[in-house]
Amino acid sequence: MRWMITGSRGQLGLCLQEVLRERKQHEIVLAADLPDLDISDAAALERALRGVPGGADVIVNAAAFTAVDLCESQAALAQAVNGEAPGKLARFAQELGARFVHISTDYVFDGMATLPYAETVKPAPLCEYGRSKLAGEERVWAEKSNALLVRTSSVFGPGKNFVATMLRQAALRRSGEVEAPLRVVHDQRSCPTYALDLAHGIVDLVEKDASGLFHLANDGIASWWDVARTALDLGGFPELAIEKIKTEDLSLPAKRPLFSALDCTKAASIGVALRPWPKALAAYLQSSASPLRDL
Ligand SMILES: NC(=O)c1ccc[n+]([C@@H]2O[C@H](COP(=O)([O-])OP(=O)(O)OC[C@H]3O[C@@H](n4cnc5c(N)ncnc54)[C@H](OP(=O)(O)O)[C@@H]3O)[C@@H](O)[C@H]2O)c1
Repeated sequence: MRWMITGSRGQLGLCLQEVLRERKQHEIVLAADLPDLDISDAAALERALRGVPGGADVIVNAAAFTAVDLCESQAALAQAVNGEAPGKLARFAQELGARFVHISTDYVFDGMATLPYAETVKPAPLCEYGRSKLAGEERVWAEKSNALLVRTSSVFGPGKNFVATMLRQAALRRSGEVEAPLRVVHDQRSCPTYALDLAHGIVDLVEKDASGLFHLANDGIASWWDVARTALDLGGFPELAIEKIKTEDLSLPAKRPLFSALDCTKAASIGVALRPWPKALAAYLQSSASPLRDL
C-alpha cells in the first residue's frame, strides 16, 4: 500500500511513518508538513498530492492546529486548518482514487457524560478547537467519501506533549531552578493515548479495510494528575509531590470537557484495541523518543 501523510512531523505523523516502515507491505510516497506543505492552501495541497508519480492508495491527514488555547484567539486559522482542509483532502483523495484517513478528537464532546462516549453520541464542542475539528468531520462526510475517521484523545509521543512537560517541570524542581510546587488538574478525565499505539491501530484499521467513524485510544480513564503522577513515578521522580487543582483554578482561554473518555468497543469488535495507558506510557518512556533523554 502506498501512503501519503500530511502533518508528518507531528506526534502521530512521526509514529505513522515508524509503523509503516516496520510493516513491509507499506510504502510512504509522500510525507509532508509545514512549512513545505500547508494543508490550508488548497492549490499547494492539490499540487503536492497530484505530483506523486503513481499516486497513493491511502492519504492520511495527521496535520492539525492542536494548540487548544491558541485556537480561541485564532479561530479563523483553526477553521481553515482543522475545519476546511480535511474536506478538501477528502475530495482530492476521491479524485485520485485513494482512501482518506482523518483524525479527530474527544474535544468534540461537551464532557457532561458519565460513561465513555460511543461513536453514536451527538457532539457538542465547548471550544474553538473542538468546533473546528467537528467542522472538519462534517466536511469529510459531506464529500460522501468512504473515509476512515478516527477520534482519539490526550496524545503523547515524539514531540511536545503533556508528559514531556511534566517531566521537564519535575527536573526543574529537582535542580532547584523552580521552587513552586507542581500543580495539575484532577477534574478533567480522558483516555491518555500513545501516538505509536494509535498509529498501529490506524494502520490495522486500514489493513482491515475499515471505513466510517471509530473511537481509538489506549485503555483506561485518567485525570491529568493521574498521568503526571504515573509519568513522574516511572520517570524517576517518585518523591516529587504534585498538588491537585481544579480546571477553574487555571483560567485558561479554552473551555475543556471534564469527562471525555472514548468508548472504543466498535474498534475492539473488529480486533483493534490498544493496551492500558500506564503500559503505553512506560513504553514511551523507554523508547528512543522518550523525553527523559532530554533531561
Ligand atoms: N495531541 C492531542 O492530545 C490530541 C488529542 C486528540 C486528538 N488529536 C488529533 O490527533 C491528530 C494528530 O495530533 P498530534 O498530537 O500528532 O498533533 P501535533 O503533534 O500537533 O502535530 C500536528 C502537525 O500538523 C502540523 N500542522 C499544523 N498546521 C498545519 C498546516 N496548516 N498544514 C500542515 N501541517 C500543519 C504541525 O506543525 P507545527 O508543529 O509546525 O504547527 C504538526 O507537525 C490531530 O488531528 C489532532 O487534532 C490530538
